[in-house]
Amino acid sequence: MTTQDELRPTLTTESGAPVADNQNTETAGTGGPALIQDQLLFEKLAHFNRERIPERVVHARGAGAYGTFTVTADVTPWTRAAFLSEVGKQTETFLRFSTVAGNLGAADAVRDPRGFALKFYTEQGNYDLVGNNTPVFFIKDAIKFPDFIHTQKRDPYSGSQEADNVWDFWGLSPESTHQVTWLFGDRGIPASYRHLDGFGSHTYQWQNEAGEHFWVKYHFKTDQGIKNLTQAEANKLAGEDPDSHQRDLREAIERGEFPTWTVSVQIMPAADAATYRFNPFDLTKVWPHADYPLVEFGTLELNRNPDNVFAEVEQSVFSPAHFVPGIGPSPDKMLQGRLFAYADAHRYRVGINADHLPVNRPHATEARTNGRDGHLYDGRHGRQKNYEPNSFGGPVQTGRPLWSAVPVTGTTGNHEAPSHAEDDDFVQAGNLYRLMDDGAKQRLIENLSGFIAKVSADRDDIVERAIENFRKADADYGRRLEDAVRELRKQK
Ligand code: HEM
Repeated sequence: MTTQDELRPTLTTESGAPVADNQNTETAGTGGPALIQDQLLFEKLAHFNRERIPERVVHARGAGAYGTFTVTADVTPWTRAAFLSEVGKQTETFLRFSTVAGNLGAADAVRDPRGFALKFYTEQGNYDLVGNNTPVFFIKDAIKFPDFIHTQKRDPYSGSQEADNVWDFWGLSPESTHQVTWLFGDRGIPASYRHLDGFGSHTYQWQNEAGEHFWVKYHFKTDQGIKNLTQAEANKLAGEDPDSHQRDLREAIERGEFPTWTVSVQIMPAADAATYRFNPFDLTKVWPHADYPLVEFGTLELNRNPDNVFAEVEQSVFSPAHFVPGIGPSPDKMLQGRLFAYADAHRYRVGINADHLPVNRPHATEARTNGRDGHLYDGRHGRQKNYEPNSFGGPVQTGRPLWSAVPVTGTTGNHEAPSHAEDDDFVQAGNLYRLMDDGAKQRLIENLSGFIAKVSADRDDIVERAIENFRKADADYGRRLEDAVRELRKQK
C-alpha cells in the first residue's frame, strides 16, 4: 500500500461498519451460492432498487442553478413584500428550467414550452414563481389540465406521443390557438436555457403597505439575448447531445459566465380589472404593453451550480401557492387549480417532509409550524410543543392576511370564465401571426403542417378542426396552413 492509499477513508456499510471486501460476494465455499450473512450485498442491491422516486408528472426533465435576485427600482408603492423593500436588496434564489412533456431522460432540444420555476429564499418565507418561457398557456381552466397533458404524453396503446391526440385536443380546444401559434413559431425551441425569457404567465396580486392591491404580470428578459434552434437544428442536436441545455447551463456557470435576466412587471390598478378589454385573469391572453407597460424592478443572476443533481434538482419542489406577505393569487381558474396541485404532487413524489430538505426549506428564516413527524422526519423541533394555542411561548399567528380580499358576485356553478369586450379565442393568435415577417410565417407554417400532416389518414376531421382554429385567427394563416398540410398528406 502507498502512503496515499493509507490516507484514504475506510469504506463502510450504511450503518458505518468497515467493509472488508467490496468486490466478492460471500459464498458457501469457492463457487458456491451466496450467504444471507453477506449483508453488504443485500444492502447495496436493496438501496439501488430504491434510488428512483416518481418523476414529475409534467416537467420531468430539467436543470437547476442557484442565484441572486437584486432589486433595482422602488416597487413599494405596489407591494409590501419584504424582499422587494429597497433598491439594492439581494435575495438568494434557485431556478429550475424544464421541458414539459418529455420524461426524465428525454432530450433537451425539443419543441416544447420551457418551465421557469423560481424560488426566492426571502426573510418572510420562500416565494415560488412557477412560470414558463411563454406568456400564455394552452387552456384556461385547471379542470382541463390532466386531459391536455394526456394528449402530450404517451398514448395508452401505442406508448408514443400521437399527432391524432395532440391535434384532436387542440382542435376541440380553440383557446389553445394563441399558445400553439407561439410554440410552433421561432421561439418554440430555445437554443439554451440561458437564451430564453421567463414569464410568471398568470396574473398575480401585489398588495402595498396601505392595503391597496394591484394585478401584476412578471417578465424576465434574458440579457444573453434570445436564441432559438430551427426544427432541423434541434433534431440533430437532440440526437447528438440529449443533455444539451443542461450541459450548457452548468458549463456557463462553471466558466463564471453567469446568465442574467432583467425583471419587470406589468401593473394593473385593481379598479381596471372589471372593464379591461381582455379578461385579465385569462391565461390564454397577454396584456399588450401599450395598455400596461413594463416596469423594471430587478435583475436575476444564476451563479452557482447544485452539487448534487438528485438532492437539489430532482427533489426540489416549487408551488404557486408559496406566497409571502404582499403577494397573492388572482382569480385565474388555472392558477386556482395549481394552488392545490403542486403541494399535492410534492407529498406524493418527495414525501410529507419535502419542504424541509436543504434546497426547499427557507434559507433566510425558519419554518415554525406544528406539523410533525411523517416519513424521514428529522426531529428539528426537538422538545417544542406541537399545538396552538399554547401557553409555552410557541409561535403565534399575525392576524394580517398576506394579500387583499377581492369582491365576488353571483351564484356557485360550473361557470365559464367571463368574456370581456374583445375576448375571443382567436384575436391574440391572429395578432401574433400578423406581427411575424414572411420568413417567420413560413417557418411557422412548415412546423405546424409537418406535425398536423402526421394525423392518421382516415381522420381528416381532426385535421380540419385544427386548421379551422388558425383560419379563424387569420384567413391567410388558415389558407397557407391548409395548402401546406394538403400537399404533405398527398405525399404520404
Ligand atoms: C392547472 C394547470 C396546471 C396543473 C394542474 C399543473 C400541475 C403540475 C404538476 C403536478 C407539476 C409537477 C410538480 C412536482 O412534481 O414537483 C408541475 C410542474 C410544473 N409546472 Fe405545472 N401545472 C399546470 C399549469 C402550469 C402552467 C400554466 C405553468 C406555467 C405558467 C406551469 C409550470 C410548471 C413548471 C415550471 C413546473 C416544473 C416545476 C419544477 O421545476 O419543479 N404549470 N405542474
